[in-house]
Amino acid sequence: MNARSWLRTVKSVGATSPSRSLRAWRGAWRNRRLDAAATAGRRGERARVPGALIKAEPEPGGGVLGFERTTLRITVTTGGAVFLGWDGAEPLPSYALTGRAPQPDSRAQLEPDKDGGWRVVSERAMVVVSRHGAVEVRTPGGVVLRRELPPRWWESAEGVSGRWVQRSEVAADARFFGLGGRAGGPRLRGGTYRLWNTDPGGSFGPDDDPLYLTMPVQLVVADAGTHLVFHDCTWDGSVTLREGEEGAGSGHDRPGRSELRMEGGPLRCWILVGAPSRVLRTWVSLTGAPALPPSWALGHHHARWGFGGEREVRRVLDGYRAHGLPLDALHLDIDHFDRHQVFTVDHEHFPKLAELAAEALTAGTRLVSIVDPAVKADPANAVYAEGTREDVFVRDGAGRSVRGVVWPGESVYPDFTDPKVRRWWGGLYEERLGHGFAGFWHDMNEPVSFAPFGDPTLPRSARHALDGQGGDHRAAHNVYALCMARAGYEGLVRLRPRERPFLFSRSGWAGLQRYGGTWSGDVASDWQGLRASLSLVLGLGLCGVPYSGPDIGGFDGEPSPELYLRWFQLGAHLPLFRTHSALDAGRREPWEFGEEILEYARAALLQRRRLHPYLVTLAHVAHRSGAPYVRPLWWSDPADRALRDCEDAFLLGDALLVAPVLEPEVRQRAVRLPRGHWYDTATGRLHRGPGQVLLDAPLSRVPVLARAGAVIPVRGEDGEVELEVWAPVEGRSGGGLVVPDAGDGWEKVVAERFTSAREQGTVIVRGKDGEEPGYTVHVRGL
Ligand code: GLC
Repeated sequence: MNARSWLRTVKSVGATSPSRSLRAWRGAWRNRRLDAAATAGRRGERARVPGALIKAEPEPGGGVLGFERTTLRITVTTGGAVFLGWDGAEPLPSYALTGRAPQPDSRAQLEPDKDGGWRVVSERAMVVVSRHGAVEVRTPGGVVLRRELPPRWWESAEGVSGRWVQRSEVAADARFFGLGGRAGGPRLRGGTYRLWNTDPGGSFGPDDDPLYLTMPVQLVVADAGTHLVFHDCTWDGSVTLREGEEGAGSGHDRPGRSELRMEGGPLRCWILVGAPSRVLRTWVSLTGAPALPPSWALGHHHARWGFGGEREVRRVLDGYRAHGLPLDALHLDIDHFDRHQVFTVDHEHFPKLAELAAEALTAGTRLVSIVDPAVKADPANAVYAEGTREDVFVRDGAGRSVRGVVWPGESVYPDFTDPKVRRWWGGLYEERLGHGFAGFWHDMNEPVSFAPFGDPTLPRSARHALDGQGGDHRAAHNVYALCMARAGYEGLVRLRPRERPFLFSRSGWAGLQRYGGTWSGDVASDWQGLRASLSLVLGLGLCGVPYSGPDIGGFDGEPSPELYLRWFQLGAHLPLFRTHSALDAGRREPWEFGEEILEYARAALLQRRRLHPYLVTLAHVAHRSGAPYVRPLWWSDPADRALRDCEDAFLLGDALLVAPVLEPEVRQRAVRLPRGHWYDTATGRLHRGPGQVLLDAPLSRVPVLARAGAVIPVRGEDGEVELEVWAPVEGRSGGGLVVPDAGDGWEKVVAERFTSAREQGTVIVRGKDGEEPGYTVHVRGL
């Protein structure tokens, strides 16, 4: 922990209440003692490397290679994914995978290679293993995408498998993305990134790392190709990246480097090769389709920590109505709980919550409830009493319940890695549904225990069920929130089977998308925080978690009107579009920043509403293919280096390019374009990519470009879906997808594909079989 975050933590712990602060200090000392004991076994460790290759046993999809001191399993699956498992590691069990073992591709076979090595040739990748255990993943044409050097383990005298390190090399021109939610990206520059879900203990900016949602997923983009590598290990660790350099020292390229150090757990990884869209498709076929949010969740959400009571909630709802601003969801934070206790209500300030929810719903606004995992350790608390009877809370090695300190004071933590506990927890949402809540916001689930020093989480020695495997917090920490999301999601499906759950979670791990999305957490209210917001959404999307967004305006502090508006304009183009702020922070309602800002925020809000059918379509696309709504500019042109380095704009689906303003006083900005023709949607001017153009970005709007030929479903004045078609350039064609909104249930919907063509100045739009589209068509750009 650096000095800044230490200071912040002390502040946040002290700022709560004196008794909570005292408990936090006590807890931190206790954890330090426990953790010191848990890591005592490091002395006398010895290093081990694979040694020489001595045998090979072919199996369907690859086989097992025997080295002097270990084995390596290689399996190529039918989806083209490559699995590498050392020391007997298999794909399952895994918290990331959907639970089914991916099928091996029997066409891929292990065969001898030169110099005593072996290789597996498959449709999409070639895997070559050297005699000493270096593994190269090459394109089918033989170009090396990644070279994994022989791994190294450290073992204690008892022979318990312990820490390991895996060094890898990539092309000199490669760029790294991913590793979950990182504030300093989306391009991950040289440096060390920790793999340990962490509450930074206050608001964060681009330099703060790690944050709440880490995962060992790297997406690497180079001229030679794109690949995703996932080290399926939940333990604490770090990745040190170093970008390569072309023509470094005496004209030779210096490769890019990645060094993964893990504190324990299996050494196994998946490598997926192909175009970015293909890689993400394979990734979600392994780890699960992104949950489809109910369609209202693609509207505008407003939250605040500290509404304080029903009167204030009504004032905000009325304000949105009075100012002609549509509001789809309003979020209640911990202050609506009875003294911050999860699954309770402060009846004094929220006496008629269900009535309030019903009233809001009539006006089109759903209520969303925060849900924290920690339960107040108080026999008078019904959840605690029942949980204690059911034995659901995390215990230490001696069988005592592990206590931490969170908002309600001294608390205990459900062990979500136990299926029985997940089922119990899922049932608790019934109380929430009874109050009329329609969606859920999981927070503090890294999990957090306030600490003035040390790690603000559970002690490493805390015991967990780990779905029958048993283990301690070192293995369970990073999947705690993932398992909580599963508990909530499955509970909601049981309790309210006809509606798709809406859930988003601050922390998580690979596979979180199966249950819901995430948000930025407590991003700082400054221009850096605005930039970090975009980095998080882009990075998470490339790791398979497509639904996310920031606290618009930043979590703490008071954004200037200009900063608030620029954040609002960005947020209006991200999947989760939510204003939120801390207890003592300034207001976030659009009318609180003066007439001019209100007018421009309203325009952004109405534009979002107009794009709703397009966002619904993108949600379905993400669900079916893993392609995130928000994509980096290089998505379809990964070999375009200028695009790879462009971090201040993004694609919203195939059709739109959004260039947010991320700096103060900017009224014009340079926008990098991928190849093709692009219309500035505000002026209708056509620009040709690849290249860079200078576009107006007045305070009233941010540049949004539409791809020539795009067919975009939008919501017309009367609420019906219409097609907005951006004229293809003469002689060219284009198209787009429309997935009709089937409401909030599970009905299967059929995607409709439309094409556009332009001949002799006329734009023709047709359905799949050449029929007229059954929607009103507006052609633009002619
Ligand atoms: C955490 C959350 C924040 C929430 C607050 C109080 O800081 O990240 O969104 O408002 O807790 O519940």
